[in-house]
Amino acid sequence: MKVSLSNSTTAYSPQAFYTYGTYKEDGTPNFGLFCWLSFCLDGERCVIACIGGEKLTKDRIRANGCFSANLVTEELLPLANYFGNKSGYEPDKMQVDAAISKGRVLDVPILEKSPWIFELEVKQSIPLDGSEIFICKIRNILVEEQFAEKAREDKGPMPINELKPVVGWGGGTFFKVGEQISPDAQR
Ligand SMILES: Cc1cc2nc3c(=O)[nH]c(=O)nc-3n(C[C@H](O)[C@H](O)[C@H](O)COP(=O)(O)O)c2cc1C
Repeated sequence: MKVSLSNSTTAYSPQAFYTYGTYKEDGTPNFGLFCWLSFCLDGERCVIACIGGEKLTKDRIRANGCFSANLVTEELLPLANYFGNKSGYEPDKMQVDAAISKGRVLDVPILEKSPWIFELEVKQSIPLDGSEIFICKIRNILVEEQFAEKAREDKGPMPINELKPVVGWGGGTFFKVGEQISPDAQR
């Protein structure tokens, strides 16, 4: 038997997590944690990112027109969770021990330890009531070599579980991804 839930909480939206990296006005990096990321087609595959409220990441995406989206893994979770719970408006936010370098195509900071990174250029932004949607051109996908080889060969499925991404409802609870399953075996 099913029961209905109201849409009064933003917490119950199943998804993966990404840290978005932007450069601040002084050229130093900032990262926030985000989960409202999806894909669309606009001539090519694009990323849709939704950012609610006012936050430094949003200010910097508006100012720079680009950012990185770094897939959060089990190893990166403590750092990512910190990025999601401390405002970039606090000047000491980025005084953390994190390996940060630059994107290969865009001037965006990236987290070295993320195995799957999108370098994104904003094509269009749509202001909504309480949030803003950024539709982004994927200018580069920076991937750990072992996964890039699989993607290039296009042989069999990409083993998502080997990337060890974290998934969850968006509300601060996190889960591991399990093993590949066959749709037929579930009948
Ligand atoms: C698990 C988790 C998921 C989050 N997802 C989003 C999101 O999808 N959109 C959003 O606007 N904020 C999201 N946040 C909140 C931002 O990460 C948070 O406001 C952060 O302080 C922003 O950093 P900044 O000020 O450096 O940009 C999330 C936070 C957590 C802990």
